[in-house]
Amino acid sequence: MPFKAVVFDAYGTLYDIQSVAAVTEAAFPGHGDLITQIWRIKQLEYTWLRSLMRHYQDFATVTRDSLAYTLRTVGLSCDAATFDRIMDKYLHLDLYPDALAALGAMNDRKLAILSNGSPAMLEPLVTNSGLDCLLDAVISVDAAKAFKPRPHAYALIESTLHIAPADVLFVSSNPWDASGAKSFGLRVAWIERVSARAMAAACARGDLVAPLTMFNALRTQMDELGFAPDYRIAALSELPEIVARA
Ligand code: LAC
Repeated sequence: MPFKAVVFDAYGTLYDIQSVAAVTEAAFPGHGDLITQIWRIKQLEYTWLRSLMRHYQDFATVTRDSLAYTLRTVGLSCDAATFDRIMDKYLHLDLYPDALAALGAMNDRKLAILSNGSPAMLEPLVTNSGLDCLLDAVISVDAAKAFKPRPHAYALIESTLHIAPADVLFVSSNPWDASGAKSFGLRVAWIERVSARAMAAACARGDLVAPLTMFNALRTQMDELGFAPDYRIAALSELPEIVARA
């Protein structure tokens, strides 16, 4: 069955979340990797905790709070200007190098983002990276005040694009997001950026694993939730062929 729309997760899928390491390392030399990984782990954890607590705050707040947690935990502090400079990287994240070409090759379908990001985070990011010319919609879960993987968040795709979940290919590199989208009823392509073999090799390399290795072990491998993706790909560049063939 053909796809009428291709909808992307933003952070980690179109945009390289690890690109914040350049600013965390510049602000705190020698600590960039540790800060980057704890920050992202806590950021997502706070979305899930807030969902369970039923105390929603938008993703900008969650991102600030998780950075504050990280710096306090690592025993570092900074002035407000440095904190804001680190946060500002969220508006200028690096696109994955194959993102523009992949989206450009699928422009006969509706293309959109569905992200936890708040509108104030997503709009500048999409414009700064040039994706605004390729996307039909940038959907923030803030409209539902519900973070992924709550069903209310994924339901925004149909209410915004007027396309049924079964006609949508949802693309995410985040295993929990791919599982959530599949459990909701979307068709799903999961980007396995770190292969299971590379992951196991990195873990076997020594007694002490680097923060990035620990992050990859927690957040790049498919979860045991019982919702397998329809497609398992290694990069965005594989999508146009899948979409053309469906
Ligand atoms: C997003 C984050 C969760 O929704 O990756 O873009």
